[in-house]
Amino acid sequence: MEKIVSLCKRRGFLFQSSEIYGGLQGFWDYGPLGVELKRNLKDAWWRDMCSGHNELVQPAGAPSTFDMVGLDSTIIMHPQIWKCSGHYDMFHDYMVDCRESKKRYRHDQVRGRWVTHQEQKIFVTTMAEAETEQAEVQHRALKFFRLRPKDAESLTYDGPSMTLDKIDEFSAVLGPDAKALGTLTQPREFNLMFKTTLGALGGEDDYAFLRPETAQGIFVNFKNVLDSTRVAIPFGIAQIGKSFRNEITPRNFTFRSREFEQMEIEFFCHPDQSQAWYRFWRDRRMAWYQSLGLSAKNLIMREHHTEELAHYSVGTADIEYAFPFLPEGEYGELEGIAHRGDFDLRSHMEGKLDPSTRPMEVEKDEHGKPRHRGSGRDLTYRDEATNTRFTPHVVEPSAGADRGALAFLCEAYHEDEAPDDSGKMQTRVVLKLHPRLAPIKAAVFPLVKKDGMPEMAQEIYAELKRDMAVFYDEKSAVGRRYRRQDEAGTPYCITVDGESLTDKTVTIRDRDTLEQTRVKVSDLAVELKSRMMA
Ligand code: GAP
Repeated sequence: MEKIVSLCKRRGFLFQSSEIYGGLQGFWDYGPLGVELKRNLKDAWWRDMCSGHNELVQPAGAPSTFDMVGLDSTIIMHPQIWKCSGHYDMFHDYMVDCRESKKRYRHDQVRGRWVTHQEQKIFVTTMAEAETEQAEVQHRALKFFRLRPKDAESLTYDGPSMTLDKIDEFSAVLGPDAKALGTLTQPREFNLMFKTTLGALGGEDDYAFLRPETAQGIFVNFKNVLDSTRVAIPFGIAQIGKSFRNEITPRNFTFRSREFEQMEIEFFCHPDQSQAWYRFWRDRRMAWYQSLGLSAKNLIMREHHTEELAHYSVGTADIEYAFPFLPEGEYGELEGIAHRGDFDLRSHMEGKLDPSTRPMEVEKDEHGKPRHRGSGRDLTYRDEATNTRFTPHVVEPSAGADRGALAFLCEAYHEDEAPDDSGKMQTRVVLKLHPRLAPIKAAVFPLVKKDGMPEMAQEIYAELKRDMAVFYDEKSAVGRRYRRQDEAGTPYCITVDGESLTDKTVTIRDRDTLEQTRVKVSDLAVELKSRMMA
């Protein structure tokens, strides 16, 4: 992971936000290569899921044909939306505070091991990354028991590493930054929504929230979309946009950020068909990641157990990836596909529903009134064919663009050997990104900076630049130029050499196979496009 993080900084994929002021935890900036990668990922999602969808053809595995449309709603919305969605009351993580270090941790992210020395058994915790966790636990245990490294064998470990939420007794816990035992408080709820104030007066009634998910913007526009388009159920509304969560311990590079982008679909269907649509979306989304290069061995689909599901839901599955910062055998969530029943549309109509009631009823306050009032608008759907009215059920594939970009970067990172300018094999770092995701599609080089080669290369560059992201480079030896493009994930390098001047051909070097093929300049654009589509 360290190598990937260092490449990201060195080559301008990702920078820590506000770095010159010491950085801001949980916020990341995408540099010149990173912004292209993330944009390509979002464009691929938008095209494959929304704008490129053919509503006249029934895709394999789909119960029927369906419509797809897009939306771009605001980040700040009416605060009542978050009350009805449940985020105001229920969107929290558990945190623990350390009375000694004054630091705050997310309960389920503190890891540790039971360690015994001469009859005293303590739970030593750490926030270290997976690869240094055991060394850090040992170091802290030795320090606590006032032992030296050579005494490490006098420590005995009981059970594997586990998270703090599995521990009931806090008096024997050594907090991640504490010197004494029992300094951690019991877990408390912490709402993850960022609060802000609207307008110049900024009174208590002027507060609003930065959205923690893009989904609610879709639910509250359901009727607008129906009334302004010709879509009919089943159909999906897609949206890409920023979301904000005040994560207690943002970590693992961009994986858990406080500001991130989501790519979400709310798919509205008849209740009787919702199970079949859930299965369709779950399988389709898994296949999509693989079509862009994530290998099956690094991906799992984790179906939530029935006891984890809200009772209105027939299923939720997470698509998870074996991120290299996680311990061997553990996976991190890339996307969740949830069957949400009619919870959201009914909550926005009638008032926030109580998910523990059956059938779901509006949650009431001590006066018997709705605890959070709904909009009162009719969000039901009338099926013209059967002349029946129902509240649609929703299947929600919800992906993170930043986690996606990180997974594709991790998968793409390779070290192998390639010849340098003198033909000697050297280690090279190469990002084997899918051509659709690669920030630069092709680089154009004159072999040497003379004899008319730069002029011809610049002409080719100008021509290609009209419809793809290309890069021109005439500095340094050609081998070094190839190496720089390999690190940036550029799939093709085009070189103009002596032969090019006479027969109007160039070589295309393939990043992954290192194979060089000579093609006519007049066929170049078509050749590149067909390779990228393959
Ligand atoms: N509307 C449903 C929803 O928001 P979620 O599982 O909370 O569901 C969906 O979020 C996706 O958003 C996650 O699978 C993940 O890819 C991304 N995501 C969530 N929190 C994130 C964070 N703090 N940093 C980066 N990505 C995050």
